[in-house]
Amino acid sequence: MKHALVIGGTGMLSGTVKWLIKEGWHVSVTGRTHRKMKQFLKYKEITPIYADYHHTKEMNKKIMQAVDNEGPIELVIAWIHSDAKGALHEVMSEITKRKQHVDLYHIVSGTTKMDELKNEVTAPVNCIYHQVKLGFIKERSIRRWLTHKEISEGVIEAVKNHQRTFIIGVLK
Ligand SMILES: NC(=O)c1ccc[n+]([C@@H]2O[C@H](COP(=O)([O-])OP(=O)(O)OC[C@H]3O[C@@H](n4cnc5c(N)ncnc54)[C@H](OP(=O)(O)O)[C@@H]3O)[C@@H](O)[C@H]2O)c1
Repeated sequence: MKHALVIGGTGMLSGTVKWLIKEGWHVSVTGRTHRKMKQFLKYKEITPIYADYHHTKEMNKKIMQAVDNEGPIELVIAWIHSDAKGALHEVMSEITKRKQHVDLYHIVSGTTKMDELKNEVTAPVNCIYHQVKLGFIKERSIRRWLTHKEISEGVIEAVKNHQRTFIIGVLK
């Protein structure tokens, strides 16, 4: 079975996780709390990983345990708050040691500068970096944030079409 990792997958990316299951993936999902993880515990295709991404070593250890059990990870979808600098790089460095090609879909807020972040992640050579930016929705003269459904569906579209850069909603 193909193995995907969704970091920060128990909130706005829940719909994406459920879609991956339908598409035949085994999905390792990270988050800190059981309360948010509970929605996935009925699925045999889910490995819940309880970890704080500020404690990268500990999170990596748990991720690599999932790799030992379910096989190498070939797709990573990551929503990591910007205060956890370096976490994604460390995770990707470990994951790419076990797999020839890994697609990384990095979800970032609309104000993030693509090049800055790309450098920060410094994707290993066998990692294909994709970036999904969260914009907003303009309805008549009103702007509003994206809903969880819109975010999950946008990420699904980016993954389906192998988009290297993708904007959900609009940025201006
Ligand atoms: N442009 C936009 O429209 C836009 C942009 C950004 C955000 N938003 C909205 O803002 C809302 C709040 O954003 P959110 O970041 O709270 O998104 P979220 O996806 O609802 O929750 C964050 C995810 O990351 C996990 N997480 C958070 N901190 C963590 C940590 N230190 N270590 C490990 N996992 C961690 C959470 O699980 P645990 O809490 O269990 O750890 C959860 O799975 C969202 O509902 C979204 O709709 C909108």
